[in-house]
Amino acid sequence: MDAVAEIKARVQIEDLVPQYVQLKKVGRNFKGLCPFHKERTPSFYVSVERQIAYCFGCHKGGDIFKFIEEIEGLDFRGALQFLAERAGVTLPKAPPHERERKTERDRLIELHEKSTEYFKEQLWETDDGKKVLQYLKKRGLKEEIIKSAHLGLAPAKGDALYTYLLKENFTRNEILASGLAIARDFDQGSSSSQGVIDRFRMRLMFPIQNLAGQICAYGGRAIRDGDEPKYLNSPETPIYHKSALLYGLSNARPEIREKKNAIIVEGYMDALAAVQAGYKNVVACSGTALTENQLALLKRFTNEVIFSFDRDNAGKAATARAIELGFAQEFVMKVIVWDGKAKDPDECLRENPKIFAKAVESAAPATDYLLTHFKEIYDITSIDGKKKMLADLLPFFSRVKSPMELDEWLKEAAAILESSVQSLYDELKRFQGKQKTLSNPNIKYAADDGVAAAPSFKIQEYLLGLLLTYPEACSKVNLLVQPEDFEDIELQNIYRFATTQYNQALGNQTLSLKELERKDILAVYVESKFGDMSWDTVEREVSETVLALIRRKFNHQKKSLLTKIKDAVGRERECLLESYQEILTKEEKLVGEAGSQK
Ligand code: CTP
Ligand code: MN
Repeated sequence: MDAVAEIKARVQIEDLVPQYVQLKKVGRNFKGLCPFHKERTPSFYVSVERQIAYCFGCHKGGDIFKFIEEIEGLDFRGALQFLAERAGVTLPKAPPHERERKTERDRLIELHEKSTEYFKEQLWETDDGKKVLQYLKKRGLKEEIIKSAHLGLAPAKGDALYTYLLKENFTRNEILASGLAIARDFDQGSSSSQGVIDRFRMRLMFPIQNLAGQICAYGGRAIRDGDEPKYLNSPETPIYHKSALLYGLSNARPEIREKKNAIIVEGYMDALAAVQAGYKNVVACSGTALTENQLALLKRFTNEVIFSFDRDNAGKAATARAIELGFAQEFVMKVIVWDGKAKDPDECLRENPKIFAKAVESAAPATDYLLTHFKEIYDITSIDGKKKMLADLLPFFSRVKSPMELDEWLKEAAAILESSVQSLYDELKRFQGKQKTLSNPNIKYAADDGVAAAPSFKIQEYLLGLLLTYPEACSKVNLLVQPEDFEDIELQNIYRFATTQYNQALGNQTLSLKELERKDILAVYVESKFGDMSWDTVEREVSETVLALIRRKFNHQKKSLLTKIKDAVGRERECLLESYQEILTKEEKLVGEAGSQK
């Protein structure tokens, strides 16, 4: 047995998934709230029989490997290792030729590993490094965290890292692709490095890890006075997308799951100071703007976020913006506001950890925070001030999804503005009306449960699901539906598979791995969405879907013929009209046959 089969034999999907998702038994299957998107009614199903876990809302999931890839943010290789460890299966070492065929991704990750080692050596073993260590200690970081966060130093010399990486057998192209060095075409000066210069020079290096804990980028803080910018980040690369990662998340994950919330700070230093002080559920958004993607990422692990941004105006604006985004994703949100003058969590923790602890404990719900915040900004004793506050509040109101929550909030706001809930409600309607006319009507937003443009199951897929679950129904469709009636080759093959399976005489359609998986998903879709159907129901559903398919096919043909007929003249026109008549007859016949089977 190969490793994949062995792992599949040892790890049951119904044991694996409950570690991430609460499941409820329904018929033969289990269902639960999808861990990959936000929803209120479960569309995530686990089939014991077919060993797949799949969401019919956002169409994510698959077998145990696919599930782990998606929920743990790993590639196939990573998921294999992850599950092998669990199952106690030893993976064969990749043969040497396999190792040479590493993907660009693997190479870039290795390059970052090597660079991190290099930066660490510079920090711990050089004179410049000793000074930087002094600086870090002055800022309150202990040796333990400096080490566990893998902090390092990028040296001052222009191409030190580049030269080092070349010696480690990375190519010029790989190094440039990593973003750690920059080509300076105009510069012919330093022949040794062919006009390439390190991106980070004389900077304290904060390695940034992806969800799997691999280092994939850096934030570099200037150490010399006057060096600009204060923080410099790796650029976007094939392995680093700043807006979709959170600093510290891979380490914070277990604690976030345990505490059921995450503290979000702005800066690297804030995150490290918080971790050192015992807040292990902390992540940093690395900058002022928390993104939708970052929140969606967190949503996989928790439903509650606690914002702890800087005290300055930029920090306040960032908090407001984050709350707005958080509403849209239905987070429970709180905001930490500490007493005193400290400008950020790092400073607060250094000055007096107790003050921060108290602030965490008494963190206010986001709505309270916002109302207080706006009350401070505007003079609400005047009509004008009230109007302005309301104008600022409306975008937030309009993001609230839960009617009950909105109601609560409108009440609070009405009390402060000395207005009625009803009139706030009217204002909100007016605001939303304006918004609609402003937004592009061509962009269709997600269904109610917020699945972003998830392609939903089509009639064709429903029919296949029915045939796979109730093979006896195949006899009813064989003559009415042709493989070509399905819109993609995979579906065509699955249809062939379903009908040939039923009618062995036709031979056997073999399916690719991808088709096999798709077939299982279609079957589970029908099983779990509709439960066990009576034979009557199956027959009715099959005839109706077949009818719908036939009608659609003919409508399509008729429509395209009609446009041709419109422009045609003479003999051509006659021919086309004849074809049109033929189609009508064929349709009538097929529809009649499908109907008579009811
Ligand atoms: N940041 C950035 N680029 C900048 C400035 C800031 O990417 N030019 C990001 C960094 O991730 C930084 C965070 O924003 O950690 C917060 O920035 P800031 O508040 O300016 O720095 P501090 O975290 O307070 O930095 P320090 O305490 O080291 O002075
Ligand atoms: Mn700071």
